Amino acid sequence: MTLFGSDAQLRDRVNGLLASMSLEQKIGQMVMAERSTCSPEDVRNFHLGAVLCGSGSHPEENTPAAWVKMNDAYWAAAMAAGPGHVAIPTLFGVDAIHGHCNVSGATVFPHNIGLGAAADAGLVRRIAQITAREVLASGIEWTFAPNLAVARNICWGRSYESVGEQVRPVVDFARAAVEGLQGDLGENAVLACAKHWVGDGGNAHGIDHGNNPAELEALREIDMAPYLAALEAGVLTIMASFNSWKGEKCHGHKFLLTDILKGELQFKGMLISDWEGTTYLSDDYHSAVGQAVNAGIDMFMVPESWHRFIESLHQHALNGSVSMTRINNAVRRILAVKIAYGLFERPRPAARPWSNHPSFGCAEHRNLAREAVRKSLVLLQNRNSVLPLDKTARLLVAGKNAHNRGHLCGGFSIEWQGVSGNEQIPGATSIWEGVQALAANASLSEDPLGGDADPQQHDVALVVVGEYPYAEGLGDVRLNEQMMVETGSQMSGAMIVREPYGRTLELCQLHPEDLQLISNIAAKGIPVVTVLVSGRPLVVNRELEKSVAFVAAWLPGSEGLGVAEVLFGDYDFQGRLPFSWPRTDADAGAQDQPGFTPLFPYGYGLSYQGMLEENTSANGSRLRKTLRRLALRR
Ligand code: BGC
Repeated sequence: MTLFGSDAQLRDRVNGLLASMSLEQKIGQMVMAERSTCSPEDVRNFHLGAVLCGSGSHPEENTPAAWVKMNDAYWAAAMAAGPGHVAIPTLFGVDAIHGHCNVSGATVFPHNIGLGAAADAGLVRRIAQITAREVLASGIEWTFAPNLAVARNICWGRSYESVGEQVRPVVDFARAAVEGLQGDLGENAVLACAKHWVGDGGNAHGIDHGNNPAELEALREIDMAPYLAALEAGVLTIMASFNSWKGEKCHGHKFLLTDILKGELQFKGMLISDWEGTTYLSDDYHSAVGQAVNAGIDMFMVPESWHRFIESLHQHALNGSVSMTRINNAVRRILAVKIAYGLFERPRPAARPWSNHPSFGCAEHRNLAREAVRKSLVLLQNRNSVLPLDKTARLLVAGKNAHNRGHLCGGFSIEWQGVSGNEQIPGATSIWEGVQALAANASLSEDPLGGDADPQQHDVALVVVGEYPYAEGLGDVRLNEQMMVETGSQMSGAMIVREPYGRTLELCQLHPEDLQLISNIAAKGIPVVTVLVSGRPLVVNRELEKSVAFVAAWLPGSEGLGVAEVLFGDYDFQGRLPFSWPRTDADAGAQDQPGFTPLFPYGYGLSYQGMLEENTSANGSRLRKTLRRLALRR
């Protein structure tokens, strides 16, 4: 990373600013508050360095114009220089993790799991570029993306934020995503934030906020590898992870944060904490703050506790338990990122060229999302070549996810836990709406159990089933509580224990209504084509058996039409499994165990021409061998 090290001009500018700042302003620069807990006056009075909109948080009117206005007010307050306050523009951050998914009317791209199936770095780069434009349209300059987890256990509720279970694709994704978002740091760029450093994808049993027990060598080869690519691509910010490594929380881990990331890997940018991530280090808030700052976190996402954080860090600075050298270093990094991004030179948000741009959510952006959807679909079964569907066939479309745009988008869409229904995702198409646009004789079932399916009237049924939206730990599947107890007992510091999504990966137990519906329709002699909408592979043996064709659609986002285009054969399938597909619950996280026989292997996928070529590149098989070797050692 060449950005700061040798740039004398940048160094001088940072030092000049630092010399004119009071301790209060330095501490303020290290704080990121949440919009609902801080006013523009707070930004001015407490010199806050950054503001965020947590997922699901938005100005009262959720339009790009209202977002621009909001950030404009924060910016203006920060820039009002006066005694004791040097003008330093605030940074505003948001989770634009699959498009600018917090804002109404945005283009919502498939979640990363779908991009993993598409395996197309060029596509990732273009998506990142368009996401950057939609973020800029709302006057915002920073996204907490990309997520670089190599998810090793599909029980994890964040599996869909991962590109897949193997390292190489995540490495390729990391580079393309950072390049797409940050570009040349010019007018079209937003700041990227690689997250979460480090090892959350390897948490034992896939428990969110849990513990990654890997040896350092495995942590390097699996979990850290994508960050090397992100660093090479010049990523300017990185977020610390909620998880522990070998029982110690990452947020307080000096070896991981400072020695490895900033020392060995030469990260010169800004390291931020996750949402109140510091508080898990200790029951005593004050000592947790000292630990996290000393471990190397520069900017603190303290949406709820920022007043307390400021007081606490001030105390630490006064009594020397956090040195001025460490505080100055943190502030230097924050200022350097702001300068490198050109924040000081950019006009106020309302006057920036992309702000309120009419391209927000436009057809061209949606076409790109639709392309991504088409490329992400994985065909698992196609008996009697029932697919592609005939556009003139009398098609019955059924299932709870058939006409539900919110469910297609999944978590981190408008709300943290996602939304249900169609109204909150304007400008989108559900799968039913996509089908309707292409096939004149299709009809939507009115009965959740398929009572209206009729072999006299329907040639074939398209049944769209799967999961409800979820995010983070609330999406965990916890196969048994003992795992949780064990994990907790091996960790120092606290861990959030949330009600999990379920206790099994078996779809017929999580959502018995889905199998019921498929079976009811199949029992009438109507061939069933099943489309699974889900944030991970699930155990679907029984649903597969009753279906003639079966498609994994992941969480495709706002463009359900893309699903219909492939089902009707306008385009062929080209997606391949980014995760091994389980036969039973026991397959979760077992991909490196000897004798592992998933229902469908990693990389599997059919097309209208037959089996897609297996991913047997030298790289791929070498990687598999490495992973197997590492797993055995663990
Ligand atoms: C998540 C982060 C996210 C942050 C801000 C946290 O709960 O772990 O990935 O960026 O919230 O919304």
